[in-house]
Amino acid sequence: MVSVKFEQVNKRYDDGFQAVQNLNLEIKDKEFLVLLGPSGCGKSTTLRMLAGLEDVTEGSILIDGMKINHLPAGARGLGMVFQSYALYPHMTIRGNLAFGLRMMKGTEKLAETEITARVDEIASLLELREHLGKKPRELSGGQRQRVALGRALVRRPKVLLMDEPLSNLDAELRHQMRNEIRRLHDELGTTTIYVTHDQIEAMTLADRIAILDKGELQQHCAPMDAYHHPANEFVKSFLCRHIDDLVTTANSLFKPTDDATEVVE
Ligand SMILES: Nc1ncnc2c1ncn2[C@@H]1O[C@H](COP(=O)(O)OP(=O)(O)O)[C@@H](O)[C@H]1O
Ligand SMILES: [Mg+2]
Repeated sequence: MVSVKFEQVNKRYDDGFQAVQNLNLEIKDKEFLVLLGPSGCGKSTTLRMLAGLEDVTEGSILIDGMKINHLPAGARGLGMVFQSYALYPHMTIRGNLAFGLRMMKGTEKLAETEITARVDEIASLLELREHLGKKPRELSGGQRQRVALGRALVRRPKVLLMDEPLSNLDAELRHQMRNEIRRLHDELGTTTIYVTHDQIEAMTLADRIAILDKGELQQHCAPMDAYHHPANEFVKSFLCRHIDDLVTTANSLFKPTDDATEVVE
């Protein structure tokens, strides 16, 4: 069982800017939660506080009921995937996937045979087996992003954190990877928090979406509930109107070209 809880969390940066305000949010075991909001609303700040990359100004972050505010990033048992996947260019894909496992110390230290087995397992899951001997530059953008995902998953994190991981990919690949990320989640059951500014990405991936604006949580519920019952004007315009516009645009592509023949009722 893994759960994450934000209790009255605030983040003020050194320059006095309040990036996150009184955040109360719980992510349940095996849940796929998407943090959705426009650029600058505090999504990355929220994720980085959970990951231990940014201090919490006030409030508590709990994993399985334990306050982790002051636990070092490496001791939190989290895996993280970013937009820029920064693989080690001189290492093979196998080397990249094994790197984090080789770094494990003390009681966590793994035997080389276990490392090989885990890398093989994750490579199969991500369809990377035939690429294990290659260097990152020999792979496509989508394959590299899959390696970055594998690198986070191979350590079997308690919680997987993803910050706009698909933003650098073209539309077709983004669509494919989205399906793959959801499939992996359903297979592995890893509690996942996924950050995006993309409404469609959020709607298609999430069990639950948490919508942020200007550092404040606006609504958190199942995606279709937010669409059908927006909590306020912001959700109405950022989520509902945006999706309605996309649907209208998509429908207009299929309209007969000869508008003049339409009967107006
Ligand atoms: N180190 C920092 N110092 C001051 N302000 C920051 C810092 N990092 C981010 N911010 C500000 O905090 C707000 C939220 O940033 P961020 O969490 O990165 O937003 P998002 O990921 O939703 O785009 C933005 O207005 C950003 O400019
Ligand atoms: Mg961000």
